[in-house]
Amino acid sequence: MAENIKVAKGLAGVITDETSVSKVMAETNSLTYRGYAVQDLCEKCSWEEVAFLMVNKELPSSNELADFIKTEKEYRNISKDLLDVIHKFPKGSHPMDTLRTGVSYLGMEDERIWNNSAVVNMDKYIRMLAKIPTIIAAAYRHKKGKAFIDPSNELTASENFFHMCFGKIPAKEVIKAFDVSLILYAEHSFNASTFATRVITSTTSDIYSAVCGGIGALKGPLHGGANEQVMHMLKEIGEVKNAKKWILNALVNKKKVMGFGHRVYKSGDSRVPTMTKYAEKIALFTGGEKWIQISNILRDTMIKEKNIYPNLDFPAGPAYYMMGFDIEMFTPIFVMSRITGWTAHIMEQAADNRIIRPLSAYVGSPQREVLSIEERKP
Ligand code: COA
Repeated sequence: MAENIKVAKGLAGVITDETSVSKVMAETNSLTYRGYAVQDLCEKCSWEEVAFLMVNKELPSSNELADFIKTEKEYRNISKDLLDVIHKFPKGSHPMDTLRTGVSYLGMEDERIWNNSAVVNMDKYIRMLAKIPTIIAAAYRHKKGKAFIDPSNELTASENFFHMCFGKIPAKEVIKAFDVSLILYAEHSFNASTFATRVITSTTSDIYSAVCGGIGALKGPLHGGANEQVMHMLKEIGEVKNAKKWILNALVNKKKVMGFGHRVYKSGDSRVPTMTKYAEKIALFTGGEKWIQISNILRDTMIKEKNIYPNLDFPAGPAYYMMGFDIEMFTPIFVMSRITGWTAHIMEQAADNRIIRPLSAYVGSPQREVLSIEERKP
């Protein structure tokens, strides 16, 4: 330990900058995007309206929304070259790795890569918003040995994603639940992946590099990867009758229970009630009620025994599973949404930039002499 230096491990409690993108209010378990309560956005807005809001700072007028959707639809296709590259990836690769490489490829295809102006970054944003779902669906079909399905310009973003993955569109209730999950996942202030995108942007690197960094950070199970781990855990428990014993055993063994806990929220995550409500609706459609029942036992026991509450990944994981997605698709879906928040932060950082460069407390060897190789210990 360095003497007389207070280290903020994990940057806990450190305010590193100002932001106008979102406000996380742990005291009231609430969250606003650009001043709007996230629950209101879920009930009153489409995913596309929120995707516009995040980066443009205001909700769109009907003309602005129509233009935004038109551009997004025009960008949905990916190049034949990128599709060929995806088809060369090892079938065992995780779609987050495919996506990280795919977004990197999008950057290489963009001649404007070094143009970081706000206008060009706005266009690059819509390009990524439109193409990321296509890359994920292409990776999914490739792994299944199935042919790529072209995106459709007739469909909303969410409908189009189901179409590209499964060749069909589910009931409107499922689409609404998927839209809601995207809205809830869109943004959450200085979380690890967003901070990674801001660090990369602060060096005046390009937006594609920043997003690749964000994808790398989001993949980790302590962050976005938790939604996949939640479903692995629920499947391991398997049946309602096993749930109580499983969770008590996990706590005795000091196991980290995925989908629980949060750096900022200590008495409940603002997004959980809305996602839980929609997960319960999906369960009625799919007959997946047992996942809800197991989840309820885990939640009640964690709160009673540890006073630790579920985070958004806890209801989102089973919701995606009940919608028919393979578990490894969950975190890539998170990226489809978080590209909005990342871009809002990337543009905010670029507009008022100072390179992010914290200090460290050195605890290594004192300064010493370099010995010749003969003088060193054998
Ligand atoms: N299961 C069991 N115990 C947990 C827990 C969990 N999911 N999350 C936190 N705790 C415990 C810690 O062990 C610690 O206990 P201690 O004080 O006895 O050591 C205490 O709660 C505080 O947790 P801490 O690790 O300091 O919180 P953090 O702010 O550093 O980490 C997370 C936050 C989200 C990384 C952490 O809660 C976690 O790993 N959760 C599981 C992964 C997850 O769901 N991630 C998605 C986040 S949205």
